Amino acid sequence: MTRHLLRDDDLTPAEQTEILDLALELKKDRWASKALEGPQTVAVIFDKSSTRTRVSFAVGIADLGGSPLIISTANSQLGGKETPSDTARVLERQVAAIVWRTYAQSGLEEMARGTRVPVVNALSDDFHPCQLLADLLTIREHKGALTGLTLTFFGDGRSNMAHSYVLAGVTAGMHVRIASPAAYAPRADVVAAARARAEQTAGSITLLTDPREAALGADVIVTDTWVSMGKEEEKISRLRDLGGYKVTKETMQLADADAIFIHCLPADRGYEVDSEVIDGPQSVVWDEAENRLHAQKALLVWLLGKS
Ligand code: CP
Ligand code: NVA
Repeated sequence: MTRHLLRDDDLTPAEQTEILDLALELKKDRWASKALEGPQTVAVIFDKSSTRTRVSFAVGIADLGGSPLIISTANSQLGGKETPSDTARVLERQVAAIVWRTYAQSGLEEMARGTRVPVVNALSDDFHPCQLLADLLTIREHKGALTGLTLTFFGDGRSNMAHSYVLAGVTAGMHVRIASPAAYAPRADVVAAARARAEQTAGSITLLTDPREAALGADVIVTDTWVSMGKEEEKISRLRDLGGYKVTKETMQLADADAIFIHCLPADRGYEVDSEVIDGPQSVVWDEAENRLHAQKALLVWLLGKS
C-alpha cells in the first residue's frame, strides 16, 4: 500500500522514531543511501513561496541519487486548469514521489487518493509535517530525547506550524503547550486527534492564554510568523491580537535554564521573536534549518521503502 505524509499523525509513534533514527544516520553519512538511483525523478510542486523547503528537497533528492523536478504552479496546469487527481495520474507514470506545498489540505488528500506514488505535504494551510521531522530531530540532538519534554508554541495556535506541533509533539510523547489568544486556539478536531494519540504515548496537549504561565519551565520554546502565507489581508488584526505572545528574553528566563529556542523560519524579527533571542545562545534555528535536509531524505527513503 502506498504511504503518504499529509499530516503529522499519518506516522505512528514507532514510525516517527524510525524516520528520525534514519535521519541521524544520513546526517552522519550523507551519501549512505542511493534510494533514488537511476536517477529517478521526484516532482516538488510549489503553490506558495519557499527557500528552505525548495533547497532541502532539491539537494536531498540529488544526494539520494535522484533528480528533483521543481514545478511552480504559476506556470503549470495545476491550480485552476487541472485537478490534483488528474495531475497525480499524469505524474505517477513518470516520477517516484510527489512533494507539494499548497493551500488547502483537501487538495493534498485528493492528490494522494489519485496516485500510487507517495505524496508529501511540503506545507499546507493546516500542517507542515516535514518541518516537524526536522524540528524533532533538532530537539533530540540538543536535548537527548523527546519523550517527557515540555514544548511551548507561542502565537497563532490555528496555524499550520501549531497544528503540526500538536500532532507530532504528542506523537513523540512530548507535553505540548499552545499559548495563544482564545480566538487563535488550535482547531478542535486537531486537538481531539492529539488527545487520542496521547493515550498511546503519555504525551499531552494544553491550551493556554497566559504566555507567562505557558513559558514556565518549558524545555523548548517555539514560535512562528503571526502572518502565515495566505493570511496577508489579516496582517493588521493579527499584529494587534498576537502582540502579547512575542518570544523575548523574559520568555526565555521563565523557561527551563537549559531551554532551547526553535523557529521554522523565515522569522519576522521584532514581531514574533526578538533578535536577541533568535541570535542568542539558546537558539538552534540554523541547526533546525539544516535538519530539513536530513529529515526529508530519511522520509523519502522510508516512504519509498514502504510503498
Ligand atoms: N520553514 C520553511 O518551510 O521555510 P520555507 O518557506 O523557506 O520553505
Ligand atoms: N506558518 C508559516 C510557515 C512558513 C514556513 C506560513 O505558512 O507562512
